[in-house]
Amino acid sequence: MSVVSAREMLLKAHKEGYGIAQININNLEWIKAVLTTVEELKSPVILGVSEGAAKYMGGYRNVMAMVHELDKFYNVTVPVAVHLDHGTYEGSYKALEAGFTSIMFDGSHYPFAENLEKTKEIVAACHAKGVSVEAEVGAIGGEEDGVIGMGEIADPKECAALAATGVDMFAAGIGNIHGKYPANWKGLNFEVLEEVQRVTNGIPLVLHGGTGIPEHMVKKAISLGVSKINVNTELQLAFAAATRKYIEAGKDLEGKGFDPRKLLNPGYEAIKQVIREKILMFGSDNKSI
Ligand code: 13P
Repeated sequence: MSVVSAREMLLKAHKEGYGIAQININNLEWIKAVLTTVEELKSPVILGVSEGAAKYMGGYRNVMAMVHELDKFYNVTVPVAVHLDHGTYEGSYKALEAGFTSIMFDGSHYPFAENLEKTKEIVAACHAKGVSVEAEVGAIGGEEDGVIGMGEIADPKECAALAATGVDMFAAGIGNIHGKYPANWKGLNFEVLEEVQRVTNGIPLVLHGGTGIPEHMVKKAISLGVSKINVNTELQLAFAAATRKYIEAGKDLEGKGFDPRKLLNPGYEAIKQVIREKILMFGSDNKSI
């Protein structure tokens, strides 16, 4: 039994200077790929679940049922948090009710006073159940499940006020965006990151949009207080490319190559490889104890 809140694993990562991967999951293959890889590498992990992905997987309860059963099936010993990614106000309560162990309430699109009020309320409800909470100021750019952010740079004063609500981790826009980065991307704004960490009293920070951020920027962000890095698109691209290769090579037409257990296997192996690379890059291998 290894399904836990994200609080302790993030505090340890923050103190010891490494990052924990939030890998967003989409289906059975994704959950299997993450759980087996983190167990091999003895790494803690956070499974990110967007509201759209939860709906696709048959609801929050089914997500929890799948994670709990696979956790037992694979004898997972490393800490695994199940985290709502960019939760709405209503979605946060539904996921909490269904047994999620960590919640991101994304109130970044509300007027700030309302984001603050709602975050406070959600922190109280989650902490009463030992569930960790992430809050966000300054919408992250790009598009994710229909939520479109413009890539704002967070206001440090707002960061300080939101962090004071007692959230366990904090996401601030520092020029990062979801999905692929455009060729003319200016990179992460490390001055803002430093300032955000200063005004938030050393709370573990979260870097969204982990796909395609160069290794040196990831490492610098970790050294400045980032303890959780979210990765989603990169796995989807790897899964699609491996599946395309299999079909283009005509493998689905050979023997029983059309069997979904065969057809989905190259994609499964490809996402395992991306997860492995990210965990080694973030430095959370052998940090499960
Ligand atoms: P990417 O899809 O860019 O990796 O971002 C994931 C993310 O930040 C989830 O919240």
